[in-house]
Amino acid sequence: MIIGVPKEIKNNENRVALTPAGVTEFKKHGHTVYVQTSAGEGSGFADAEYEKAGATILPSIEAVYEIAEMIIKVKEPIESEYTLIKENQLLFTYFHFASSEPLTHAMISRKAICLAYETVEKADRSLPLLVPMSEVAGRMAIHEGAKYLEKPLKGRGILLGGVPGVRPANVLVLGGGVVGMQAARMAAGLGANVTIMDVSLPRLRYLNEIMPANVNTVYSNEYNIREHIKHASLIVGAVLIPGAKAPHLITRDMLKDMNPGTVLVDVAVDQGGCIETCKPTTHENPTYIIDDVVHYCVANMPGAVPYTSTLALTNATLPYALQLANKGWAKACRENAELKLGLNVIGDKVVYKGVADAWGLPLTDVETLLA
Ligand SMILES: NC(=O)c1ccc[n+]([C@@H]2O[C@H](COP(=O)([O-])OP(=O)(O)OC[C@H]3O[C@@H](n4cnc5c(N)ncnc54)[C@H](O)[C@@H]3O)[C@@H](O)[C@H]2O)c1
Repeated sequence: MIIGVPKEIKNNENRVALTPAGVTEFKKHGHTVYVQTSAGEGSGFADAEYEKAGATILPSIEAVYEIAEMIIKVKEPIESEYTLIKENQLLFTYFHFASSEPLTHAMISRKAICLAYETVEKADRSLPLLVPMSEVAGRMAIHEGAKYLEKPLKGRGILLGGVPGVRPANVLVLGGGVVGMQAARMAAGLGANVTIMDVSLPRLRYLNEIMPANVNTVYSNEYNIREHIKHASLIVGAVLIPGAKAPHLITRDMLKDMNPGTVLVDVAVDQGGCIETCKPTTHENPTYIIDDVVHYCVANMPGAVPYTSTLALTNATLPYALQLANKGWAKACRENAELKLGLNVIGDKVVYKGVADAWGLPLTDVETLLA
């Protein structure tokens, strides 16, 4: 199959969908890979490395879309890319169709095959192509929190781990899923005194078993949250209720109970945030202050560490991309239920219920198109 890797053009997106190591794998399986010039630059991969791995570098995004049977990307196509997409071209990338009606209509009108990273799903309902970015964001939440706790950055001026003779800081993590677990592990590694709250007792039991001794688990409810915020220097929001807006576990009135300079990192900002006063920020201007409390609410945290994020993402996407290339999308999806759930649009038909429901479009049974 002919694979095309365009350079991401969304604002501040430095990730790339395929590394030179990925090119080597495609070549081993007899495929041809075209990479747009400087596509890997933002993640630290030069054109020469792709060429050495066997890819051909193309000078423009138009040339990549023109030649490729499968386009592998990171972010959803933006408007200037719509007309480059060809009928029956396979696009394997994040789409998030349910949050963009124009994108949905554009893909239907281009009659492409759209396989969305975010809906590839395992039998245990986990989302293998979202997990790596949650892992990055969870770990980063502690770096960022530690940085903004510094006095010159308007924080409390407290070192997470303390020093001999000085108590460590208290870190509260709301939600003990992928983000919360990684955040707690990082904070614990720095020597902080960590509390994770969740509403799932099985999850709290699990965390209790595997976390180091400086991590405590507490059931998440309003009373416990009100108690803990009084003493926490860093609070990480990592709650998710699938398919719903995040609940506001920290309300505006609670800010006055926090110490001045407390830092809130609301990783759940992409679902509306679990802190009432959360509003999305960017890497250029990541924080704002309300009632002396520092809010960090960057919606694409992994974008700040594109090298790590690219490797984490491509480690997860490559095995699926290889199946699509080796078998063709239809056979690969017939034989792999996880990949089949990634199908959102096939030609001019919507085959994913969440997308059809979001925009009032007819839903076509994917099986009839795979038969
Ligand atoms: N800002 C970013 O750059 C970025 C990057 C990756 C992920 N995220 C977001 O981070 C959030 C968390 O993702 P995840 O992968 O960890 O999800 P997850 O499903 O693995 O974990 C969510 C956890 O929240 C718990 N929860 C639900 N209601 C709760 C409540 N009332 N109190 C406490 N815990 C509660 C669940 O039991 C679950 O354990 C999501 O909104 C995700 O989209 C943001």
